[in-house]
Amino acid sequence: MSSPTKALVADDVEIARRVLAHIDAGTTDEGAAWREPVENYLNPERFAAELRLLQAMPSVFVPAAAVPNPGDHVERSVFGVPLFAVRGRDQRVRVFRNACRHRGFALVESAGCTHALVCRYHGWTYRLDGSLAHVPHADAFPDLDMSTRGLVEVASREVDGLIVIGALSTPSGESGPAWEEWLSDGTPWRDKLLPARRLVYVDSTARAMNWKVLVEQFLEGYHIRSTHKDTFYPVQYDDLNVVEMFGPNCRITFPYRNIERLRDRPEDTWTIDARVTFLYQLFPNVMLATFPDLMLMIVIDPVDVGHSTVTIYSMVRPEVADRTSRDPGPNNPAGAASFIARGAVEDNEMSEGVQRGLASGANEFVEFGRHESAIGHFHATLEERLTRLRR
Ligand code: FES
Ligand SMILES: [Fe+2]
Repeated sequence: MSSPTKALVADDVEIARRVLAHIDAGTTDEGAAWREPVENYLNPERFAAELRLLQAMPSVFVPAAAVPNPGDHVERSVFGVPLFAVRGRDQRVRVFRNACRHRGFALVESAGCTHALVCRYHGWTYRLDGSLAHVPHADAFPDLDMSTRGLVEVASREVDGLIVIGALSTPSGESGPAWEEWLSDGTPWRDKLLPARRLVYVDSTARAMNWKVLVEQFLEGYHIRSTHKDTFYPVQYDDLNVVEMFGPNCRITFPYRNIERLRDRPEDTWTIDARVTFLYQLFPNVMLATFPDLMLMIVIDPVDVGHSTVTIYSMVRPEVADRTSRDPGPNNPAGAASFIARGAVEDNEMSEGVQRGLASGANEFVEFGRHESAIGHFHATLEERLTRLRR
């Protein structure tokens, strides 16, 4: 398998070198500043254009750890389109539009495992490959050709621990646009995500916020001291990040103070997995965040201009799952009492405040400084693609 990893982001030793240099100099990575018009967070027409764009591009659906075994299925609405994924007996994951071919009932209502997909309304039954297997009282449908009424599939691939889907606005049956380079095998997060194959917790929450306010929450470390005084700040640095862009995506490194212990060790022994959090933004709306003993995938689904759904998948290595499954305390990295969960509450409070402030009429634009350049990159990428779509 080819590995473009090195070309896309720096290796761990290089990241540690850059972090230590920033600590010594009191600096952080800097990029371009950005001003985003407030209108772009509030205008329903702008939101509709964004949704059209998002539906026309490939995106990440769910972590593969959500459907490890044949029959496992999981649902989510992606850019307003209800979908579900199910792993077949052939081990292949397929993604379908979540609607029965009879009267359109949402077939999969929650995550689970099943031998066949049975519609709760009138009992039409589908095999795990989506084909229609059984129609009760089939003689009532004289014109029904069962072979053509399987579930409607969306092009998808399993890539390095993620189930990735093609464009949703492309009619089914077409192959869709070429998979982007960053979604091919050998991704930069492969080594982190593949071992965390035990899904231990999923949480889905509706938030009264524009989706971009929620995305911005993850993309800078300028707020660590001010927002996370008693959670992240004691173990991390304020305003000290390495920021790398690859294509429309980015990776932000948030170092922990224990990275300084590397100073008196030879570089060829350096490992940084427990010394930094890597935050990968997979454009536009998916974040992968690494923590010691925990991997999070956070999906921000736009619902309307002022509402979003945030789904968090918590994954751990199997040995960590065995060790922490009955631990409700702060040492369970996936638990609600962990400092990660408490930090997330703080971030959401800030995002709620930003959303409220948008309506105040005080600002024509939201200001992002040179230490918040990953946010500027996000908005610039979105703007550039919207412009291309309008042509
Ligand atoms: S809607 Fe599914 S069986 Fe009627
Ligand atoms: Fe934060």
